[in-house]
Amino acid sequence: MIKRIAVLTGGGDAPGLNAVIRGIAKSAMYKYNVEVYGVLDGFKGLMEDRIKKLEPKDISGLIAKGGTILGTTNRDNPFRIPFTIGGEVEYKDLSSWVVNNFKKNKFDALVVIGGDGSLSIGYEFFKLGLPIIGVPKTIDNDLMETDVTFGFNTAVETATFAIDKLHTTAESHHRVMIIEVMGRYAGWIALESGVAGGADVILIPEIPYTIENVIKKIEEREREGKRFSIIVVAEGAKEKEGELVIKKVVQTGSDPVRLGGVGNVLGEKIEEISNIETRVTVLGHLQRGGSPSPYDRVLATRFGVEAMRIAWEEKFGYMVALKGRNIVSVRLEDAIKKLKKVPDNCELVKAAKALGISFGDE
Ligand code: F6P
Repeated sequence: MIKRIAVLTGGGDAPGLNAVIRGIAKSAMYKYNVEVYGVLDGFKGLMEDRIKKLEPKDISGLIAKGGTILGTTNRDNPFRIPFTIGGEVEYKDLSSWVVNNFKKNKFDALVVIGGDGSLSIGYEFFKLGLPIIGVPKTIDNDLMETDVTFGFNTAVETATFAIDKLHTTAESHHRVMIIEVMGRYAGWIALESGVAGGADVILIPEIPYTIENVIKKIEEREREGKRFSIIVVAEGAKEKEGELVIKKVVQTGSDPVRLGGVGNVLGEKIEEISNIETRVTVLGHLQRGGSPSPYDRVLATRFGVEAMRIAWEEKFGYMVALKGRNIVSVRLEDAIKKLKKVPDNCELVKAAKALGISFGDE
């Protein structure tokens, strides 16, 4: 019998986190009569026993609110906490602190709302015996076993609006405008916002490009009298035989690599080779910010309610997911095996190519 559940949000924030918390907490309180506790700042908060009971007033007004009321972090993996000893960084496994605090608080389940990093940590705790349930979050949409993660739709919407606005300057100044979007090693945000925003070139990690092919497309447009081009480049895109452009390395993160900068590298090369005036916009964290779209509010709510329902059924080691139009639950282990990237045979890539959009590969 489930009486007390804990919820945490981990990894980068994404629009819809609060709507999931609300979905879990409202259904817990009103349907199942279960107490809900919010763990502050992800697994770090559980390690440090920073926990807050959620009351009805805490979960009011959350559906449209961006970020997470619980706080989050994409550093601090309890299995690998860094300590600086004599100038050297050493890592310690403090996972037992998490397990002990979970037990001390007499929780019956822990809902982990996170991307591949936090869900992988969650799965490690499941193997240590904690009753874990996952909820798939990330603007990158790169989690297996769910058609969509919440947060992705809002990020695509934000990126599309940005592309729409860049068209103005591109057309007026006859420029190449590059917009760099997030997505880590997957091209979903670039692909969908590029198609929705009418981009001329879309560069994604899954399809390495050459500068020559990109310039070929720009010049083809010039010959057709279209004296501007819009390029959407995913932060993880790279040239054929090229390297990822890395902004920084954060040793304490589940994934230490922070991508960023490919837009500027590309812009400089285009200007240098073609002599066409080029400007670069890096959209950055705007993609994670603000109020969730109606689609993400509904998806997040459905995920939250289902997470509480499977907690009630004590179906631990599972993650809620969207398959087609249905909310289902899948094995957490399967969801974290590898990242979901844009597949080779992607129908949307084919459709974009049919429209004449270049992916820089031919
Ligand atoms: O995973 C979400 C994400 O926004 C990625 O798209 C991006 O690469 C990364 O997080 C940025 O992380 P940070 O907020 O640490 O800069």
